[in-house]
Amino acid sequence: MPKITAVFGSPRRKGNTATLLRQAIKGARDAGAEVNEIVLRDLKMSPCLEIYGCKQSGQCAIQDDFQGVLEQLLTSQGIILASPIFFYTVSAQTKILMDRCQSQWVKKYWIDKVPFGARRPSRKALFISVGATKGKKLFEGSLLTIKYFFDTLDTQLWRSCLYRGLDFEGDVLKHPDYLDEVYQAGKEFTAVL
Ligand SMILES: Cc1cc2nc3c(=O)[nH]c(=O)nc-3n(C[C@H](O)[C@H](O)[C@H](O)COP(=O)(O)O)c2cc1C
Repeated sequence: MPKITAVFGSPRRKGNTATLLRQAIKGARDAGAEVNEIVLRDLKMSPCLEIYGCKQSGQCAIQDDFQGVLEQLLTSQGIILASPIFFYTVSAQTKILMDRCQSQWVKKYWIDKVPFGARRPSRKALFISVGATKGKKLFEGSLLTIKYFFDTLDTQLWRSCLYRGLDFEGDVLKHPDYLDEVYQAGKEFTAVL
């Protein structure tokens, strides 16, 4: 049974990305995955303080909920990350998690001295995102951000489910096709883990 960690990155508990993520989780569980849910807004997680307390050991020196989240991510075969677009990138809650993973970047590239691109990814990720507007470049910033975040975690981005034109809580419920698509993505994701 593959283990997946699902990360709710929105400050809204019942927002569009949370609704989509719950559908993806349902698909993954129906396909036999064990899914562990992390709701970032409920956690105590400081932003990275750039003190490089991680320089010797690769472990973040700030003691809070980050350590538990990292443990979950690193012991999973799959990660499903859902974040809304805030100013053309991920939410602040999601970005805090990413920045705290700089300790993993330090471990990989400074301590273990892995040449960039040399290590085979050991897990896969599904990214879910929504934004209110409809511009062509809406997801470009966040896709670049998650590419390097997932690389840090030796994770390959398997698929992105991206939806435009969703703003208010519940907007996504007007699009059953989106809900079906992420449910299927959750199922198919489990099958490739
Ligand atoms: C702080 C903030 C910044 C936002 N920035 C953007 C943006 O750059 N582009 C966009 O299309 N929508 C933007 N939005 C709208 C959200 O992406 C949209 O409401 C989305 O549906 C929220 O998803 P959620 O319900 O999962 O939180 C922003 C919303 C907030 C609160």
